[in-house]
Amino acid sequence: MRQLIISCSLSPKSHSALLAQCLSDEITNLGDEIHLIDLRKLELPFCDGDACYAHPNVQTLQAAIKEASAITIATPIYNFETGGGTRNAIALGGNAFNGKVIGFLCAAGGENSYMAVMGLANSLMLDFRCIVVPRFVYASGAAFTNGRLSEPKLEGRQMVMVLAPR
Ligand SMILES: Cc1cc2nc3c(=O)[nH]c(=O)nc-3n(C[C@H](O)[C@H](O)[C@H](O)COP(=O)(O)O)c2cc1C
Repeated sequence: MRQLIISCSLSPKSHSALLAQCLSDEITNLGDEIHLIDLRKLELPFCDGDACYAHPNVQTLQAAIKEASAITIATPIYNFETGGGTRNAIALGGNAFNGKVIGFLCAAGGENSYMAVMGLANSLMLDFRCIVVPRFVYASGAAFTNGRLSEPKLEGRQMVMVLAPR
């Protein structure tokens, strides 16, 4: 099973990108193949529902999604929702998401936005018939110290449960 992580934050000090890297390391340690796309490196255009789909980086994103059976979306939480960059990436990925298993890694400032992924999860389920893993990682700022993940409960077991239950 080829797994893909899309790290959607554009922040240079992104916490969700740290979560993405932790999950990537865990999956590699399990001996599975993992492809990590960091949207700070793969610059995407805004979705205009038209010419954007011919952009080479959009085609790279769509190809990676099509190749994967399971996809983790690592996302910042903005305004009690997933960030705009995340939703832009989903719009650009479009039908490539059809039928995929989707997990979430969320980085938020506080504890109260834990339902922020629900709108996007509903859209993935209804638009693209995705199977959304009903357990996901939600890490507030308190889970990080000096730019590192410092919450032991988020290391190992729970991270791996997102995509590689064994
Ligand atoms: C514009 C903006 C809106 C935010 N809204 C929320 C929010 O509604 N709830 C929350 O818990 N944190 C909120 N935060 C804090 C971010 O979720 C937090 O900084 C998180 O680390 C962002 O993910 P990242 O580090 O991967 O970019 C917001 C931050 C910004 C910049």
